[in-house]
Amino acid sequence: MTALPLAGKTALVTGGTRGIGKAIAERLRRDGAAVTATGTRDDRIPPEGCAYLAMDFAAGDLESLAARAAALAPDILVNNAGINAIAPFSEIDPADFERIQKVNVTAPFQLCRAVLPGMQARGWGRIVNISSIWGKIAKEERGSYAASKFALDGMTAALAAEVAERGILANCVAPGFIDTELTRRVLGVEGIAELSARVPARRLGRPEEIAALVAFLVGPENSYISGQNIAIDGGFTRV
Ligand code: NAI
Repeated sequence: MTALPLAGKTALVTGGTRGIGKAIAERLRRDGAAVTATGTRDDRIPPEGCAYLAMDFAAGDLESLAARAAALAPDILVNNAGINAIAPFSEIDPADFERIQKVNVTAPFQLCRAVLPGMQARGWGRIVNISSIWGKIAKEERGSYAASKFALDGMTAALAAEVAERGILANCVAPGFIDTELTRRVLGVEGIAELSARVPARRLGRPEEIAALVAFLVGPENSYISGQNIAIDGGFTRV
């Protein structure tokens, strides 16, 4: 029997209770990792076979949450939890702006910082930060979100440059329009059809497709990709 690609590895996936994060947690688990998924509430149910940790990055003290992450000594960290807000620039509430940066950038920063010493000691680590196409190109009314996702890209590239020689690879993955329960609820059938027509692939992406890319980046077949921000968007950002 061949060993699973992530056998013996531990992984932490933030925002792993639903949507893209859930698909990532499930995939890494299937690939053999011992996975801990985080969610915002105490009573959330993690994906099957995964452990659970409640972490609310908007409300909590990030340094103590990061210390809890470090205690798990993950070999693989996937910063997936993220929030969005859509508003014309002049109507962005500064408090909302700060909250989005806290969840989307400062929390990944604190978590990376907290798990790095363990990865460095073990001489192996994989970090994937889930960005967005709005961290590669911008769009009106995405001031807070684009600021956070562009920042995540810059932070990841700088981190990757520092740690690659220690066996740690760090990348961003930038999903396009993904068909999650939330997307369906917000857009409805018509909205999804309209959006699909704007994508060269003529459909939305699936969470499992994002999970497959993450699994590749953290798996044994990736030994040299680092510091990248890889769009997975059916071609949307290239037309
Ligand atoms: P979702 O809203 O379905 O799930 C978000 C996850 O983040 C949940 O598990 C939730 O518990 C967690 N989360 C939310 N607020 C949090 C907080 N304050 N503290 C800690 N955790 C919190 O999100 P979705 O759509 O699955 O997105 C996941 C990631 O992918 C996000 O970073 C998002 O920006 C990014 N993304 C999503 C796209 C999409 O079309 N769904 C497209 C591009 C990027």
